[in-house]
Amino acid sequence: MLSYLDLTTALLVGTVLVLYAVVVMYSKPRHPLYPPGPKGIWYLGVTTVPMRKAWLTYMNWGKKYGDLIHFSRFGKHYLIINSLEAARDILDKQSKQTGDRAHTQLDKISGMNDFFGLMPYSDEWRKIRKIFHQNLGPETSTQTWSIQAQEVHKFIAGLPSSKDTLRNQISCLSQKIMFLSVYGLEIASSEEDMPARNRKVIELLDFSMIAGWSAFKKIPFIHLLPPWLPGGQLVADHLAFHEVFQEGADRPWNALMEDLRRPDSHNSSLIANLLFNIDPDDDQGMQRLKKFGVAAIVAAADTTVSVISTFFIAMSCYPDAQLRAQQELDDVLGRGQMPTLEDRPSLPYIEAILRELMRWHPAGPMGIPHDTSEDIIYNGYFIPKGTSVHANIWAMTHDESTFEKPDDFIPERHLREDSKFDDINSILAYGFGRSFKISTSAKRENVEEYFSHGTFCYPKDFAWSVSPRLN
Ligand code: HEM
Repeated sequence: MLSYLDLTTALLVGTVLVLYAVVVMYSKPRHPLYPPGPKGIWYLGVTTVPMRKAWLTYMNWGKKYGDLIHFSRFGKHYLIINSLEAARDILDKQSKQTGDRAHTQLDKISGMNDFFGLMPYSDEWRKIRKIFHQNLGPETSTQTWSIQAQEVHKFIAGLPSSKDTLRNQISCLSQKIMFLSVYGLEIASSEEDMPARNRKVIELLDFSMIAGWSAFKKIPFIHLLPPWLPGGQLVADHLAFHEVFQEGADRPWNALMEDLRRPDSHNSSLIANLLFNIDPDDDQGMQRLKKFGVAAIVAAADTTVSVISTFFIAMSCYPDAQLRAQQELDDVLGRGQMPTLEDRPSLPYIEAILRELMRWHPAGPMGIPHDTSEDIIYNGYFIPKGTSVHANIWAMTHDESTFEKPDDFIPERHLREDSKFDDINSILAYGFGRSFKISTSAKRENVEEYFSHGTFCYPKDFAWSVSPRLN
């Protein structure tokens, strides 16, 4: 039975919602033009948003609306950017105004904003970013090169005889490298407790970043809804998410601490080294390292799995590229020699393959959404504070005016006469603004069927075989 207090809360929440909707509706005409886009109904906005391979839908919508597409849901504004020029103007040049991340009361409950990749712009964010730059930036990640080479070589040696799915093996490789580099922890299988929890965190993040999906979080006082009202389950769900995020961060951290307490510990991981320079009583400093650790293992997991799996699909569908890459390895290193990261500058075709993988199937085709912290005007259009901005990286890397035959895998397009490559920031798959920076069953004709459709885009499992070239 409903108590008097429950009924009062329900009435209050209902009244506030109606008042809020009226205020939003009547305060609108003051603003100049929003960019074009589907209009939807009143305060509710558009009723459905593209969920599956949304980047393709937005590319299509671009034919009707142009490079900028605007829509709203529950008073939350969304901006999709289809062109590189507009993304550079809005997300890079105005990163001070567009470098925030969404933060709502429900995000506070779930602890999502404590996760570095989704943390609002703040002093704390800057401090954690500094740790990333100093340890995992393009120049500093050399600390982890030997671990990467050692694990990749083991992975390749095990491929021909392994009975496990290719996806599991790639996932295991990616998690092994990160857990070993960041915490000094050995992972034998991606099904183990810690990597499995890591994947659970990624699953939660996947849908939450799709444009429009989490607009309900913007509804005022939604975090106060009693559980028996429609939507009231949300708070319980977000409390459950909090536990998943918390455990994902706690378990590897606690395992590292336990390892460091052992007198015979040889842990020389990134965090173990960072702990030397920090006062154990500096609680904030310790929490920061913990956040760095979990952000690194989460951010690296699906992105690298996506690129490595896409590599297998590409090599299978484009055997000429595979042959040319093998030829380069033989010519430069000698037949049978395994490359290491030190060889990278002398292997331009392999570098071109990497860049083409990132272009052909970027791991996050819609990037990670930014939130505007101020109103901005772009090309005469009004983009209000709190707009969720999504860069359609896929549309940019498949723009026919820049990339001829964009759906084809052509590494040669990245090779220049002066043998140089564009700066790493030109790799659009890494996003914008504040961030730092074989043989399978796949056939060219149906290659799209192999890729997933959420925020992270990666090949699903597929039949495969790998055979060594040399005995
Ligand atoms: C091929 C692999 C990768 C791709 C395609 C990729 C892509 C991206 C993208 C699109 C963003 C969002 C940038 C934006 O705000 O616009 C991002 C952010 C981030 N990535 Fe990666 N990433 C990759 C690998 C990694 C790895 C290996 C790590 C860590 C070791 C990492 C750590 C991060 C972090 C911490 C952020 C959040 C930065 C921030 O909030 O400013 N990423 N990545």
